Amino acid sequence: MNHEKVEKNVGLMGILIVVAISFGGLAEIVPLFFLKDTTQPISTLRPYTALELEGRDIYIREGCHVCHTQMVRPFRAETERYGHYSVAGEDVYEFPFLWGSKRTGPDLARVGGRYSDEWHYVHLMNPRDPVPESNMPAFPWLDENIMDGEKTASKMETMRKLGVPYTDEEIAAAKEQVAGKKEITALIAYLQSLGHEHGTVQNSGGE
Ligand code: HEC
Repeated sequence: MNHEKVEKNVGLMGILIVVAISFGGLAEIVPLFFLKDTTQPISTLRPYTALELEGRDIYIREGCHVCHTQMVRPFRAETERYGHYSVAGEDVYEFPFLWGSKRTGPDLARVGGRYSDEWHYVHLMNPRDPVPESNMPAFPWLDENIMDGEKTASKMETMRKLGVPYTDEEIAAAKEQVAGKKEITALIAYLQSLGHEHGTVQNSGGE
């Protein structure tokens, strides 16, 4: 019996297990390379502005993604609360992805435009002012730190290498857009940009 041979030979069984798993893995991964909608930006997608890009880096630095996801799942409870579920084409300019895995706070994938800039400012300075029961930490230093924009252009160049279509003009103007501004301004600009791709279908309750 062939099966008995495999069961009695650990080495052979090991090799066959690896082969089986490799085929399984390939069957899951390879089709993604040929699925266009995972690599094509949706028609309304635009790259982050220089200021938003800096804001995104601050978001990462402060660990906002540890408490907040940016991934609306296609369930009714989620689409009613947050808006249209996330689609792959929204994320083609995201390096790295900030989907997150833990929701201590709400999902932020569609938070852009939901609140005013002033609300975000007050909230980041002390979340308990607008939301008394909040347990989100305060980030008051963002109002003190002034950015110099020295690295913004090179960050955008790196993004361009990864496929984000920044123009030479946008890269040349980057420093000017960022220098002298407070970090909180950049972070709020970033937050307000989130979900802009699906602005018109926000809170549509899914499809
Ligand atoms: C320790 C976990 C934690 C961290 C870290 C955190 N948050 Fe929050 N966040 C929360 C919780 C909880 C709420 C819900 C209560 C509230 O609105 O304050 C929230 C709410 C929010 C909201 C309002 C969302 C909505 O739809 O009402 C925004 C915007 C937000 N956070 C942004 C940020 C940003 C930006 C950072 C990083 C600078 C950050 N958060 C870091 C826990 C966190």
